[in-house]
Amino acid sequence: IFAGVALAPRDPILGLNEAYNADARATKVNLGVGVYFDENGKIPLLSAVKVAEKARLEAMPPRGYQAIEGNAQYNQAVQKLLLGADSELLAAGRVVTAQALGGTGALKIGADFLKGLKADAKVYISDPSWENHRALFEAAGFVVENYPYYDAETRGVNFAAMKAFLLGLAPGSVIVLHACCHNPTGADMSDAQWAEVVEVCRERALVPFLDMAYQGFAEGIEPDAVAVRLFSASGLQFFVSSSFSKSFSLYGERVGALSIITADKDESARVLSQLKRVIRTNYSNPPIHGGAVVAAVLSSPELRQMWEDELGGMRVRIRAMREGLVSALKSKGVAQDFSFVTAQRGMFSYTGLSAAQVEVLRADYGIYAVSTGRICLAALNQNNLAYVADAIAEVVKG
Ligand code: LMR
Repeated sequence: IFAGVALAPRDPILGLNEAYNADARATKVNLGVGVYFDENGKIPLLSAVKVAEKARLEAMPPRGYQAIEGNAQYNQAVQKLLLGADSELLAAGRVVTAQALGGTGALKIGADFLKGLKADAKVYISDPSWENHRALFEAAGFVVENYPYYDAETRGVNFAAMKAFLLGLAPGSVIVLHACCHNPTGADMSDAQWAEVVEVCRERALVPFLDMAYQGFAEGIEPDAVAVRLFSASGLQFFVSSSFSKSFSLYGERVGALSIITADKDESARVLSQLKRVIRTNYSNPPIHGGAVVAAVLSSPELRQMWEDELGGMRVRIRAMREGLVSALKSKGVAQDFSFVTAQRGMFSYTGLSAAQVEVLRADYGIYAVSTGRICLAALNQNNLAYVADAIAEVVKG
């Protein structure tokens, strides 16, 4: 049966974890995957999560099947975070949300649903984008192409090129947008540029699919929702995949959601019915624990505050690591100006390191980064910062 099976390449991001785990060097550092580690190099279990988990453990709830679309309280909490507690869309019944297996699971059920709806549409992702965007939409049967996005010269968004490209797309094209903390570049559009993108989507009748995996990692929960809010105010229909992997540090619990903004309540009922079929044939219904914990935190004012404070702490620490890296590189006599690292948003820096330089970091120093030069700043701490800065200084000096 399997004689003809070819060996697949390692996943460009999660494959790095496998290689990192197999590395015996004590000084190794994993700057590959987008995971927040605390100052001690550990993945934190947030205090708000601990409180909610303790209560769940004590209540010992039964473990029946969830609804196909997941936990209703969780789904409502997701909607409020994305759209705002007093969103008119919610009041009008224009939002369908299904709990999903992380942000990836949300993208996948969205992609499968879209394929049934618009079989011939092409999907456009930013150049560059999260590696799994292309793989995932291709796996759902779509042809995937890039739209211009990152400008390596300015280290910002080449908005003129992006807009011109989007204006040339066929109606019904699906356009995947990073709602904040662009992965991998950390370069986000301004609010005014987002408003222009919304208008282009309207003018060209595009299908916007916003991916929101890092809400809270740029400026905070509300400011990071700007893109979603602009789309919601537009009257357009669109998709949002969202994730609590990073913001709740619940990676392995797979806690995400797909939200679809429809034209009206009737459309919502029909969309939900189809989405449920997609979910049922993928994994039937989502697991209970992670969604219940997030729902408990978000529906308790005290726990929610505790969570937002902890999330703020992560944001501040990542910023400090950005500044620390820039000044360490400078003090090591690196001529190249790395100050752009402090302007990038979210967990990542798109360093401009080449694949060959990234390979030297791995081979000579046990420092793992994505071959595109993306590093995760959230894996730096006071103990490994100098080591990483030394290594980068050596590779860039060549
Ligand atoms: C990343 O980009 O590193 C994260 O989103 C983790 C993943 O699933 O790839």
